[in-house]
Formats: sequence, C-alpha cells, structure tokens
Amino acid sequence: MREKVILITGAAGEIGQALVHSLAANGTNKLLTLDLSPMPAEFRGLSTHIVGDILDGRLFERLVTQYDFDIIFHLAALLSTRAEFSPELAHRVNVEGTLSLLKLAAEQSQARNRPVRFIFPSSIAAYGLPNLEIKARDEYVREWDWNMPTTMYGCNKLYCEMLGSYFCHHYQRLAVNRPVMLDFRSLRFPGLISAFTLPTGGTTDYGPEMIHAAAQGKPYACFVRPDSRLPFMVMPDAVKALLLLAESPRANLTRDVYNVTSFSISAAEIRQRVLDAFPGAQIDYAIDERRQGIVDSWPAGINDRAAQRDWGWRANYDVERAFNEYLIPNIRQRYE
Ligand code: NAD
Ligand code: SER
Repeated sequence: MREKVILITGAAGEIGQALVHSLAANGTNKLLTLDLSPMPAEFRGLSTHIVGDILDGRLFERLVTQYDFDIIFHLAALLSTRAEFSPELAHRVNVEGTLSLLKLAAEQSQARNRPVRFIFPSSIAAYGLPNLEIKARDEYVREWDWNMPTTMYGCNKLYCEMLGSYFCHHYQRLAVNRPVMLDFRSLRFPGLISAFTLPTGGTTDYGPEMIHAAAQGKPYACFVRPDSRLPFMVMPDAVKALLLLAESPRANLTRDVYNVTSFSISAAEIRQRVLDAFPGAQIDYAIDERRQGIVDSWPAGINDRAAQRDWGWRANYDVERAFNEYLIPNIRQRYE
C-alpha cells in the first residue's frame, strides 16, 4: 500500500521552509519534501526529505511506486533575475519540470480515481506593463490584464498556469472516457518578504535585502529607483494563502489562477520604514537598469477580489502590521 503524502518540491527555499513548518505543526500531515539542497538542520524529523532534481524522471518513477501524492505544492523554480542569466536552464526547470510533474499528477489522478490537488505559485512576473504611464494608470491589475511578460521567468509562469489549466480541464478528454482530471490551483504572488530567510535570484529582493542588511548594520545599495512601486506580502500571509486555496472546496473556485496581495509600497517608503526602525542604517541607491526594467514592467498593485470572494482570502498583515509586528521585531532579534 502506497503511503499518502503531501509532496513539496523546492522545499528548502524560502516559501518551502515556511510551508513545511506550518504543515508539520498540524501533526497529522505526512510530508515528502524534495529539493536540490538538503533541508536546514532544524527541519530534521518534520518531513521525509529527498535531495534530488525535479528534472530526474527516474526518481519520480520510483517515488510513485512508494507514495500516493494527495496534494502537491510545486515550488521548485529559478526566480526572475537568475532566470535572465540562465534562460534555457530556467525553461528546463520552470517549464519542463512543471510539465512532467503535471503529467505525473494527472496520471496519478486517473490511476487512483481521485484528483490530485496541484498547487502552483505563480507571480506578478506574469504581467508585463508597457510603460510607467500605464503602470501608474492601471494600478490594480486583474488576472487577465497585461498578460505580456517580458522575462523568461514571467513567460514560464504564465505558460505553466495555462498548462495547469489544460491538465485540469482538457487532458486526455478525447482518449479516455470521463477521465478524472487533476485539480490545479494557482496563486499569483507579489514580492514576498520573510523575517527568517533571505531571497536569492529574485527581482523583488531589494525589499527584504534592505531590511536584513540594516538589522546587521551593513550598508546597502538598493538596485531600483526610489519611486519603484510593487506589491509585497509577508511570508506568513503567503503560507496562509497557499493553505486556504489548497483547502477550499473546488466548487467554490471560479478560476484556476488567483491574484493575492497585501500592500503596495515604493522602494523609498521601504527605506524610510527601515530608517525609522534602524536610525543609523546606511541605505543608498545604485540603480541596475536591467533589473529596474523588470520592476517597471510589473504592476504596482494587483486586484485580488476573486480570491476574497471565492475562498475568503484576506491578508493578516497590512503594511503597518507587516513592519511593526512581523518584520522589524523578528529580524532585529535574528541578528542580535
Ligand atoms: P527559492 O529560490 O527560495 O526556492 C526555490 C527552491 O527550488 C530552492 O530551494 C531550489 O534549490 C529549488 N530548486 C531549484 N531548481 C530545482 C530543481 N531542478 N529540482 C529541485 N529543486 C529545485 O524561492 P521561493 O521564494 O521559495 O519560491 C518558491 C516558489 O514560489 C517559486 O516557484 C517562485 O517562483 C514562487 N514565487 C516566489 C515569490 C517570492 O517573492 N519569493 C513570488 C512569487 C512566486
Ligand atoms: N519575487 C519573485 C522574483 O523577484 C517574483 O516572483 O523573482
């Protein structure tokens, strides 16, 4: 008999660590985690961890003989800045890795006659606004607005959202009589900020980097202009969104892909909040025009009314709570 598990790919990353903590706290979930990297030592015992590559087909052939994936949180990916430096690798990991996992989950859904839930974190990178005038005008974009990404990562995310919907509604409809489809659900996240981990390879990294550097007394040069405005969310809300969407009855969902957001903030406003908390902090600007171009193409805010309506989404942390109750105290304590 195969063991029923929740599979989390990319589990050693920022979201993965926070999600594993939260799912393990429940006590009843059996977690199977997979990443190129081992889990940090403090995660020992919380999951069965496999150091492996999402692109390793043989590994997955073996895993399905042993495990019944009830829910899959597919987090493994190369983030936006890193993907611009290695676009072909990004395509392999972000698209081909996702495609083979979707196919496996679709086949598993049919084999066990019950849908596997497949939760996929997408991104504001799926948007591509043509210029700053439009970015200022269309401040809260809906899911279907400006789906014209300008990065490899954004293209990967948008396409994988579509692939997920394909496997959820159309896969093998002509070949199999009444196939059981997998149950694909995706979230478009804004930039995420954790008090306990640091990002690597993303383009929203200036937000978390500024706060973590100040708390360590290190100077920081922000790589985007002060007026650069993006939506952000703190990690506990990201985990809340993933779990709420995963638990929601399918009948309540009117879309496969949902925007979720918390607060929009400019780089100058983040800097000011960090200076208020750490008055001696040295934060300057050294603009990286290429990363600036990416940030300029991403929306200043996203409209998440569908998530609010369909599955009761609401962030716990607005900007005040995010900084005053979560980020500043936890990051201050971390480096004390
Ligand atoms: P992260 O970079 O911290 O974690 C990604 C993890 O995936 C890493 O631990 C990495 O080792 C692993 N990985 C990469 N390639 C792999 C492979 N071939 N096989 C197995 N594992 C592999 O990123 P994160 O912030 O935790 O993001 C997780 C997911 O959420 C990603 O899909 C990302 O695109 C998405 N997302 C993140 C943000 C954000 O701001 N952090 C925003 C929107 C969407
Ligand atoms: N925060 C991510 C990045 O910057 C967006 O998905 O790549």
